[in-house]
Amino acid sequence: MFLSYLECTESAERLETGHLATVSPSGMPLAARYDLDSAGESLSRETFAARPPGLWSLAELLPLADPSDAVSLGEGGTPLLRLPALGSALGLGRLEVKDEALNPTGSFKARGMSVAVSMAKALGARELAAPSAGNAGGALAAYGARAGLPVHVAMPVDVPLANRIEAEACGAHVRLIEGTIADCGGWIREQCEEQGWFDVSTLKEPYRVEGKKTMGYELALQCGWKLPDVILYPTGGGTGLVGMWKAFEEMRELGWIDGPFPRMVVVQATGCAPVVEAFEQGHEAARVPENPHTVASGLRVPTPIGDRWMLRVLRESNGTAVAVDDDALVAGTREIARHEGIFAAPEGGALVAALRELRARDWVRPEEHVVLFNTGTGLKYLECFQ
Ligand SMILES: Cc1ncc(COP(=O)(O)O)c(C=O)c1O
Repeated sequence: MFLSYLECTESAERLETGHLATVSPSGMPLAARYDLDSAGESLSRETFAARPPGLWSLAELLPLADPSDAVSLGEGGTPLLRLPALGSALGLGRLEVKDEALNPTGSFKARGMSVAVSMAKALGARELAAPSAGNAGGALAAYGARAGLPVHVAMPVDVPLANRIEAEACGAHVRLIEGTIADCGGWIREQCEEQGWFDVSTLKEPYRVEGKKTMGYELALQCGWKLPDVILYPTGGGTGLVGMWKAFEEMRELGWIDGPFPRMVVVQATGCAPVVEAFEQGHEAARVPENPHTVASGLRVPTPIGDRWMLRVLRESNGTAVAVDDDALVAGTREIARHEGIFAAPEGGALVAALRELRARDWVRPEEHVVLFNTGTGLKYLECFQ
């Protein structure tokens, strides 16, 4: 409806919409840009607030021309829950979690896939493919089934069992590959060239991030249009992080929010922390870690294509980046479960461990409003908790 053009996130070069898009000519992620003046005339924050919760209640700020073409399973509209007991254990007066585990397929990946699959179908893709550390594969399989499009997923051999079973149950062709998501990505790339499948890998098409940005809009609404001081986000490919930042920038342009944006915190596992290392060393791009490993499978992303974009957001937001080891992230998962009854994915548990570290350094102060993004459900990772 209000989508205007696609913009290279590095060079700002503009590309037309209306066809299946991948990356910019220089190989960088593309960002969707809208006619926000017109979109804002048709959707105000009051109209948004009055609609039933859910991702497609933001249709005017999403790329699909006809919202009745949306491939939806009821994604978005997740709760923002207070964490009083965990907050008091960490010495914080206002700690909350946006619980993305309540999405279809049990993770925030549903948001990105709902928009990407809707767009791919509307623009004529016939078969969809992606490499996945786990949850994205399950979500793509589910939305592909809903759309009636064949799906091909490549996952590491040691992917959590639930992710593989879910993808297969939804009819996806699953290929298990020795290695990490980067090796899976190589195989998918080759197959897409040979077979004509459309590649919906993280940030290699521009619309998954549009789905993820809806987390930022919902958060603003749920916080009464005053954003929190600090957001902690478990980071692999980084779409959620850059997506939320994009939402904040759009909302500022729409006149929906003002004031300072939150300080963004990237949380990774010590076994695979390319963004943390690049941030600490002041680099503009990430380097590939040796032997990337962690039980938080969504964080095992050694070569994120959105590294430059993430690092820019971190610096612009006066944020920081923290790595925690596997014992600490599993302990963090148990802690939020015991204190608050939320059985989070280990990626979500990593945030608890990181927040403890940031409190110890006084980087987060007791009076600050802090939001954790629990990106998935612990039920898909039973292997980690035995
Ligand atoms: C539960 C969970 N959290 C976080 C991530 C990382 O997400 P992103 O690629 O948006 O950084 C993933 C990705 O697989 C995931 O499954």
